[in-house]
Amino acid sequence: THVVAEPCKGCKYTDCVVVCPVECFYEGDDMLYIHPEECIDCEACVPECPVEAIFHEDNLPDEWKSYLELNATKSEECEVITEKKAPLADQ
Ligand code: F3S
Repeated sequence: THVVAEPCKGCKYTDCVVVCPVECFYEGDDMLYIHPEECIDCEACVPECPVEAIFHEDNLPDEWKSYLELNATKSEECEVITEKKAPLADQ
């Protein structure tokens, strides 16, 4: 799976959700999460994120390893997001 990590916090640019072919992004209050059982590792979202917040789980920097579990739990609790919206970063 791919994982949304710390750079998304407080940003939520949401460019990632537009390119996702399986609609596996879920919206938390301050960041997005990827559902690990829905993500097909297509990598389409990776270059779209302006703050490089999305990583394959195998490439997740050590300091952000906890985001793997966080994406799994939060994606179960949050609503799916499939359309771009105004980012938090610009507000
Ligand atoms: Fe977050 Fe980047 Fe998507 S900031 S909402 S992972 S485009």
